[in-house]
Amino acid sequence: MSGCASTLSFALQQPVPGVADIICIASGKGGVGKSTLTVNLAAALSCQGKVVGVLDADLYGPSVALLLGTDDGVETTPEGKAMPKQRHGIHSLSIGNLLAPEAGLVWKGPLIAQAMEQMVYDVAWPSLDILLIDMPPGTGDIPITLLERLPVTGAVVVSTPQRLAAVDAERAIALFHEYDVPVFGVVENMDGYVCPCCGKINRLFAGGIVEPLARKRHVAYFGSVPLDPAASAATDAGIPFLLRDPQSPSAKAIAEVADKMMASLRRERANPKIAEDA
Ligand SMILES: Nc1ncnc2c1ncn2[C@@H]1O[C@H](COP(=O)(O)OP(=O)(O)O)[C@@H](O)[C@H]1O
Ligand SMILES: [Mg+2]
Repeated sequence: MSGCASTLSFALQQPVPGVADIICIASGKGGVGKSTLTVNLAAALSCQGKVVGVLDADLYGPSVALLLGTDDGVETTPEGKAMPKQRHGIHSLSIGNLLAPEAGLVWKGPLIAQAMEQMVYDVAWPSLDILLIDMPPGTGDIPITLLERLPVTGAVVVSTPQRLAAVDAERAIALFHEYDVPVFGVVENMDGYVCPCCGKINRLFAGGIVEPLARKRHVAYFGSVPLDPAASAATDAGIPFLLRDPQSPSAKAIAEVADKMMASLRRERANPKIAEDA
């Protein structure tokens, strides 16, 4: 590990009570499918019998409440902790459950960092095998706060098959490495289009960018997920598409990513810091 970021962060880190492992789902750019992959990976893990939570860390552009179809309003325990929502076998918390969609979020740096910490620690999480964090795009205050404060086990980085997204994905990988967090793998989302008539996958973008990037950064390539109109419709209806149509190409691709992520997690647990090189 290169800089002083990790040394400083180890001093500040605090485990989240009840949470065994934290995995960040990140990208450099918005709109590449982080939130979609996060809830569908959570659904895949829940189907495998894991107790899984999702924390929406994209405070300025929250999606998780919509993607999981959870309603507004969060109940609190007598101690004043927020109760996560539970739907589709997934425990979740999003600022989207707390604020109306039309409410603007006008918090600046220190306030946003404080809000983020509350959304992690002032929550009555049940005993979770895995907490997936749907990260905001970029490498700003929120990701840095999370990486400084949380003992993150690993990360999965999402990119579309476009140079514009891959360049920012590389920055996201660099940020995790700066904080000594292993990047378990890179997922190439929206790689090809599933024809609703024949189910054939047609290429939309030239491709050939994300896999070489993974190689260059010594990170595993977790494969690609096609752009699937049916998946998009399920997403808008608040149902992870992996649950609605588990045999679709996009659902099968995400189930494979979930298996690879879990294999990396097991390797990391057995042999910390080795998972990336496997
Ligand atoms: N594989 C996919 N197939 C179809 N639609 C997708 C796929 N991945 C993402 N989308 C759609 O793309 C849009 C952006 O995805 P989202 O998960 O919100 O991205 P991000 O969290 O990176 O900003 C959403 O409307 C989502 O439904
Ligand atoms: Mg998002």
